[in-house]
Amino acid sequence: MFVWTPDMVRFLKDASEHTAYYEVLAQKIAAHLDLRSHVCDAGCGLGYLSLALAKRFSFVSAVDVSPLALSVLQGNANAQHVNNLEIVEGDVFCKAPKTHYDAMIFCFFGRTDEALRIAKLQCHGKAVIIKKNWETHRFDLGGAPIGSHTFSSAVNELTEWGIPYKSETFALEFGQPFATLEDAQLFFQVYAKSGEAQNVSPEEAQKHLVRTADKAYPYYLPSLKKMGMLVVDTGDIPDDIHKKMLGEQE
Ligand SMILES: C[S@@+](CC[C@H](N)C(=O)[O-])C[C@H]1O[C@@H](n2cnc3c(N)ncnc32)[C@H](O)[C@@H]1O
Repeated sequence: MFVWTPDMVRFLKDASEHTAYYEVLAQKIAAHLDLRSHVCDAGCGLGYLSLALAKRFSFVSAVDVSPLALSVLQGNANAQHVNNLEIVEGDVFCKAPKTHYDAMIFCFFGRTDEALRIAKLQCHGKAVIIKKNWETHRFDLGGAPIGSHTFSSAVNELTEWGIPYKSETFALEFGQPFATLEDAQLFFQVYAKSGEAQNVSPEEAQKHLVRTADKAYPYYLPSLKKMGMLVVDTGDIPDDIHKKMLGEQE
């Protein structure tokens, strides 16, 4: 289970506020949906996508289990006087809306079968599932493979379960700005998945960075994030999806 730490929150906040990543992502999602929709951003994290969606859709419910992550969203929503967003703290499985959502977004949220099961129960409309479309951990210098939850594995699952879908793949720049070289070293430690990447010297960290003209963030780690988006009509998700997931007989 994904757990936020204060360092992860700080790094992601910096990255989100220095790139157009979430705005472009919201635009791509919006192209598949009715803008009058009540949309749920399931597992919204720091909520930068939720805020970008709220600029486009009638109403957004941002749901996450992490109070630490949601405190960032609450601060931003207050500062921006957003009035078409509700923040829901808790397990999305247990936080069913009073009336069904028109769309649910699952952006880098766990397993495909979980997303489909939640969408079947809570949404009359579209489920948008966004997956990693790369093979190794993006910030692991040792190149550790990601293994599961990829776009290609989700495509295989939907095909196996006979669920029709639309798909789109794209890549968005989502690099990491740094105030200091020490922060860059810490970042590589935080996101290390393989032994070799644990202790990164300033010289090694610097090899991956470019210098910028920004006095507050003079270093930048470029990163093109490749992803795949799958759009499913919740009416096409079988009622017994949980049985299919478990491989049970009818
Ligand atoms: C990898 S992060 C993705 C965050 C965000 N969607 C994004 O793309 O920036 C996954 C998020 O899902 C949340 N999460 C995991 N399981 C959850 C659940 N059952 N209910 C609500 N949130 C959950 C985590 O706390 C985390 O914020």
